[in-house]
Amino acid sequence: MKAMLSTAPGGPETLELTDLPDLEPKKGQLVVRVRAAGLNFPDTLMIRDLYQMKPPRPFAPGGEIAGDVIAVGEGVKGYTEGDRVLALTGFGGFATQIYVDPMRAVKIPDGMPYEDAACFIFTYGTSLHALKDRADLKAGESLLILGAAGGVGAAAIELGKAMGAKVIAAVSSEEKAAFCRKIGADETIVYPRELDRDAQKALSSEIKKLAGGEGVDVVYDAVGGAYAEPAVRALAWEGRFLVVGFPAGIPKLPLNLTLLKGCQVVGVFWGAAVARDPKGHAANVGQLFQWYAEGKIKPQISARYPLDQAADALNLMQDRKVMGKVVLEID
Ligand SMILES: NC(=O)c1ccc[n+]([C@@H]2O[C@H](COP(=O)([O-])OP(=O)(O)OC[C@H]3O[C@@H](n4cnc5c(N)ncnc54)[C@H](OP(=O)(O)O)[C@@H]3O)[C@@H](O)[C@H]2O)c1
Repeated sequence: MKAMLSTAPGGPETLELTDLPDLEPKKGQLVVRVRAAGLNFPDTLMIRDLYQMKPPRPFAPGGEIAGDVIAVGEGVKGYTEGDRVLALTGFGGFATQIYVDPMRAVKIPDGMPYEDAACFIFTYGTSLHALKDRADLKAGESLLILGAAGGVGAAAIELGKAMGAKVIAAVSSEEKAAFCRKIGADETIVYPRELDRDAQKALSSEIKKLAGGEGVDVVYDAVGGAYAEPAVRALAWEGRFLVVGFPAGIPKLPLNLTLLKGCQVVGVFWGAAVARDPKGHAANVGQLFQWYAEGKIKPQISARYPLDQAADALNLMQDRKVMGKVVLEID
């Protein structure tokens, strides 16, 4: 088997394509031949030791895969060789083979290609949990998404539309705005890549203008940094602000704003929610597969790379250039 290994903390250029012995069947585990690995922002952090999960080295990054079961370990029930599965693996997915805990695997519906399956659960799972379980988004409400062209952001656009919301997508370039409109956003805002005080005020007024009424009902913040406060200032009475991610830094918030708006600041920690409520997670996955089958959602894959070019794929993500999803196709 082959794997792109991280042997020392550093950027994507530190990954090394390495030959390793094939995996032997192991008690309680599936061995999966990886066919596709979806990229997510934590992959760029983990190789630098900047993520909460710090696997022992050497390790391959890659938290989300799809492939074929090639061996079923002793004691594993419900799987046979040849089953097509997707899985959240945490790490290890930038490889041709991987051990998968059967609790973290899901059988792929017929007709769903490996690349869609490898770009599905992390983004849609996070965004459905955020919008449905945490914000209680209702049809007719307005939804602002910061970082809307990224992985979780693009998923939130599609889900927001499927849930009947008016979607305002905020991004850092015209090209990203066009992408967001193409996948369903009703309105778009292009914000600067650096926000000073004046730009923050301008962003806040533009959000209020596009949302109409008293302001926006729900904010989905996948960016953080200087973008968070102007979005809170643009919330409507009893609005909900979803704390999803911080690629632009961890923001601070004057708490008087929450009093003035009677609003909620709501944390979203999808991984922990899945562990605490597996039944709720299973129901969400069922809903997502149904919407996929109905054509309401479809992973927006804008770039594909072979395994040995995983570093280029990760660079795209850390350089803020990703639109939708990036996938490794693993032959
Ligand atoms: N809370 C949870 O449970 C949960 C689950 C999944 C992911 N997340 C988090 O959500 C965030 C987004 O993840 P993702 O996989 O969707 O990432 P992504 O595809 O790279 O999207 C992130 C977006 O953030 C914006 N951005 C602003 N400043 C940036 C910077 N300095 N570097 C890179 N991007 C920057 C970019 O949009 P613009 O250029 O348009 O601003 C980019 O499209 C990450 O922080 C991730 O850890 C949280």
